[in-house]
Amino acid sequence: MTVLTPSKIFADRIGRIEVSATMAVAAEAAKLRAQGANLVDFGAGEPHFPTPRHIKDAAIAAIDANFTRYTVVPGIPDVRKAIVERHATDFGSDYDISEAIFTTGGKQALFNTIQVLVDHGDEVILPVPYWVSFKDIIQYAGGKVVFLETNEAESFRITADAIEKAITPKTKAIILNSPSNPAGSVVSAEDLERIVHLAHDRNIFLILDECYVYLNYTGKPVSGGSYTWAKDHIVVLGSLSKTYAMTGWRAGFALGPRPIVAALSKLQSQSTSNATSFVQKGAIAALAGSQECVEAFRAEFIDLRDHMLAKVREIPGVTCTTPQGAFYVYPNISAYLGKGGIKTATELATRLLHEAHVVTVPGEAFGTREHIRISYPVTKQNIDEGTRRIGEFLTGLK
Ligand SMILES: Cc1ncc(COP(=O)(O)O)c(C=O)c1O
Repeated sequence: MTVLTPSKIFADRIGRIEVSATMAVAAEAAKLRAQGANLVDFGAGEPHFPTPRHIKDAAIAAIDANFTRYTVVPGIPDVRKAIVERHATDFGSDYDISEAIFTTGGKQALFNTIQVLVDHGDEVILPVPYWVSFKDIIQYAGGKVVFLETNEAESFRITADAIEKAITPKTKAIILNSPSNPAGSVVSAEDLERIVHLAHDRNIFLILDECYVYLNYTGKPVSGGSYTWAKDHIVVLGSLSKTYAMTGWRAGFALGPRPIVAALSKLQSQSTSNATSFVQKGAIAALAGSQECVEAFRAEFIDLRDHMLAKVREIPGVTCTTPQGAFYVYPNISAYLGKGGIKTATELATRLLHEAHVVTVPGEAFGTREHIRISYPVTKQNIDEGTRRIGEFLTGLK
């Protein structure tokens, strides 16, 4: 009998990626919870609010009206209209509905954009720290990730100068995620404009993951989609997950040049087809309805950020940049590496989980070695309890 070794079973491309670290942490935490552990969960990257009533009602009404069949692949015209109109109102963009596609979460928009643009050997510039999935998705497509280091002392700021230095003749795309997961850094409007110029002048695609665009605490949210003169080189990736507390619905979109959106639709037609029909109706209610919930969520996140930051900074030896958006803090825990037999952030996060019962995500998942990511969409009591446990655990290390 022939025994198949894993290298004979699997295609090369699946060997180029790892299980998403945040999903892996969630699975480990679920196991402990099933055994009865009382965990404080700072791992999840999602709002703790329920989806607003009017959005749920629209989806329920759609199901009741039997809006439960296939739709056209890129989403019904009304959902694409809601996407482009929301974006035009908020950011001054001018996309046509043929330049919009509704996807099964922002992640599908990202995955498919990379698949349609990046070929073997193409370079993609990725600022560090980066959201876990960017690296693996680029590698899955066969692309080469060009990591762009940033400086923690400058709050991990991404500058146009640094991007310019990383560009080579093989650069196909630049990924920007502002505000960012995990550090909450925001690309300034001036840097963004210069980066748009750089990309446009050199025929490089700018892939803008704007899933936290409304959770920008520095002022008015900015979208690269508003640089209409550079539209040919910009793909905006959006998500309803964080903006409207809809993570489980799987609702996202891409806005970009018509040929790219057509290619995204072609790929989607051969994989998932349309995103769920009644989710599209919920998305229309979210995008075209009252935006009061967005402002209310934002205000609450600022309050929670300030509370979390104050608590984290009380832990002796721990430093933390001030996130300017999204809903994570990214403290530096290097003062504790080398203590208690802990050598890496991954070991520290694992011990925190098993011994202090606090869920965090280690920095290695985001390309840095001296940090852990803490999500703060939780109650203030949980922030107090979780940071107390972290502080007690760390200061107890010998
Ligand atoms: C930076 C970033 N992009 C994209 C996503 C994917 O969001 P979704 O697929 O839920 O729209 C996430 C989720 O955590 C994220 O943090």
